[in-house]
Amino acid sequence: MNAASTLTLSNGVKIPQLGLGVYKVEEADTKETVMTALELGYRHIDTASFYENEKEVGEAIRESEVPREEIFITTKVWNDEQGYAETLIAFERSLEKLQLDYIDLYLIHWPVPGKFQDTWRALEDLYKHGRVRAIGVCNFQEHHLDQLLETAEITPVVDQVEFHPRLYQKELVDYCAKKDIKVEAWAPLGRARYFDSPVLQSLSEKHKKTPAQIIIRWELQHGIITIPKSTKRKRQKENMEVFDFELSPEDMNEMDEMNRNERQSKHPDDFPYDES
Ligand SMILES: NC(=O)c1ccc[n+]([C@@H]2O[C@H](COP(=O)([O-])OP(=O)(O)OC[C@H]3O[C@@H](n4cnc5c(N)ncnc54)[C@H](OP(=O)(O)O)[C@@H]3O)[C@@H](O)[C@H]2O)c1
Repeated sequence: MNAASTLTLSNGVKIPQLGLGVYKVEEADTKETVMTALELGYRHIDTASFYENEKEVGEAIRESEVPREEIFITTKVWNDEQGYAETLIAFERSLEKLQLDYIDLYLIHWPVPGKFQDTWRALEDLYKHGRVRAIGVCNFQEHHLDQLLETAEITPVVDQVEFHPRLYQKELVDYCAKKDIKVEAWAPLGRARYFDSPVLQSLSEKHKKTPAQIIIRWELQHGIITIPKSTKRKRQKENMEVFDFELSPEDMNEMDEMNRNERQSKHPDDFPYDES
């Protein structure tokens, strides 16, 4: 296995289980960051209209030596772009910035109350017309998914949520497994804020791997798609070197027990939707 190894989404499309996230990568750094990742072997890049770096992601894809069809590109519709007609326009805007013919995975960025069902209809139409290979959501809790599925014709293939050892959303993961929705982890490293925790330090010592590698491995073994962000070549490489060791069931349990329901960002029910 390596960074190109895939999971199969419910519609049959394959997604590399490990990718590179580019949130907060400055426009000026994005092209080099993405080109470095592609050169190292990453085949999955996660951006969003909100990140304001789609143009540079597109440039990196075009200038890299990797054929377009070997790269899995995700982008997202932001909160103030939601609604049926608005989303169709937002999609064209993203495609224009990326300078691509299609997107691999198009996601609703947050469940904007009163809008996300109309936004979803637009994603379904984009999918039916072959403009995107797969559609999904981000930051949907079980109740948002229940509500979406009341009117949806197509079930999201992915729910991208904040997920890391201190936020092991077991109930959401189980819910998604039942509906054949893959969980994708954002802030998968917990934004590198608790690498000094005793469990991570001891597993790091045991496996001769860094805390970042231990966390990424835990996510992969749970069947989670994970997209750690780094602008640094050395760390991008480190974050990929996770296929040459295995956490035991006891190691996995120890990490599962790190959960504190501790978020690095807003809970989807408390997001300031009016301001975004
Ligand atoms: N759907 C959503 O609502 C949503 C929200 C947030 C994020 N996301 C996506 O998820 C991706 C990842 O989340 P994130 O960027 O918030 O957090 P993250 O990947 O958990 O953490 C990124 C931080 O960790 C550092 N880092 C990376 N690898 C490291 C290593 N091996 N050792 C030490 N430090 C390391 C990075 O610094 P350097 O860059 O300096 O290396 C950066 O400060 C985003 O980039 C974005 O694509 C989605």
